[in-house]
Amino acid sequence: MKKGFVLLALIFCAGLLFAGGQKTTAGEVEVLHWWTSGGEAASVAVLKELLEAEGHRWKDFAVAGGGGDQAMTVLRSRAVAGNPPTAAQVKGPQIQDWAEEGLLTNLDDVAKAENWDNLIPKVIADIMKYQGHYVAVPVNVHRINWMWVNPTVFEKAGADIPKTWAEAEVAAKKIKAAGMIPVAWTGQPWAEITVFETIVAGVGGTDFYKKTMVQANPADINSPTMVKCLETLKRMKQYTDPGAPGRDWNLATAMVIRGEAGMQFMGDWAKGEFIAAGKKPDVDYIAVAAPETSKQFLFNVDSFIMFEVKDKAAKEAQKAMARLILEPKFQEVFNVNKGSIPVRMGMPETPFDIPARLSMKDFVASAKSGDLVPSMAHEMATSRAIRGAFMDTVAAFYNSDMSAQDAAAQMAKAVQSAK
Ligand code: BGC
Repeated sequence: MKKGFVLLALIFCAGLLFAGGQKTTAGEVEVLHWWTSGGEAASVAVLKELLEAEGHRWKDFAVAGGGGDQAMTVLRSRAVAGNPPTAAQVKGPQIQDWAEEGLLTNLDDVAKAENWDNLIPKVIADIMKYQGHYVAVPVNVHRINWMWVNPTVFEKAGADIPKTWAEAEVAAKKIKAAGMIPVAWTGQPWAEITVFETIVAGVGGTDFYKKTMVQANPADINSPTMVKCLETLKRMKQYTDPGAPGRDWNLATAMVIRGEAGMQFMGDWAKGEFIAAGKKPDVDYIAVAAPETSKQFLFNVDSFIMFEVKDKAAKEAQKAMARLILEPKFQEVFNVNKGSIPVRMGMPETPFDIPARLSMKDFVASAKSGDLVPSMAHEMATSRAIRGAFMDTVAAFYNSDMSAQDAAAQMAKAVQSAK
């Protein structure tokens, strides 16, 4: 009898879940994303749990590949075949492209009920809207321009943590001489432009970054400053190891974690790997702004779009997912694990670690000083085609003996024809 009652109660709870005071029907969301590393998987699991706790089902569609290029190719082919997932991780201007195709669900009712306009910074809300309507929900704010340091490696080599690219070379030489790998490198095009845009911001300055990486102005791209940036990128190559080509970013982070390499230049999703490995900031690793970029904040915002579906239960599940993403619980647990900072304003700092607090402080300061800039490499600044032009030229330059002058000229030309 008792068992029967418990079962009945469970069925009742699963069927009649209340979200924001409204009755919901259990549905399924198929979620396409590229969070497959240890830290990323642990972070996204939180969303799955929260959704399932409301009775909905999470169908995971993870496509491995840092930066999401593979995931975007798969998403495009599924959409073309008329079979898109119900939710997908998509960023920046691409959100507009998907909305323009008329494939996305309008999320205005969730946004209104949850007061999104007052919870997320306007610059970010604008990216989530198409013609004034919410078609995407933001998850977090990642900072690109970080350097991840293993202090033991630096100590053994007698090297100082660099503040400039020239100092980075001095440190790298010492680490190399001490028999360790100076720079943990990911030889994949998206990761190379991640370091490249960080150098452009540092060496060229914020205005130059905006003229080139955001406005994609050919005259500024084909310039002595760009030549200097490209040369700086290429000089780092001698401090990487033969295993760099093709290496995944999280495996490069693991080299820093294990003390095989001294430093990595990568966005703060790398912190998720240190956390997953049980490492403590300022003890086991040090996170500082990448050389010459301490005042700048190159940002990217992970977000989800929802595809239009007919099934009522699936629609409810999509809306629950959108709502949960901006609720304080998810914002805290996810971002603490992921390495990013909450996109929801007014969240308490207490649960966050030293690098996250630095990020929060620098986000506000850079917004005031005009040094908060969208990441080109992570698809926040330009069209896919222009990003592709940058990516192809940087890869061709980095992997050949092409001169920096020729690369700058080629880059300007490629960007021009991608416009
Ligand atoms: C995303 C991060 C992700 C990283 C590595 C970035 O573009 O914003 O969420 O962890 O790529 O795949």
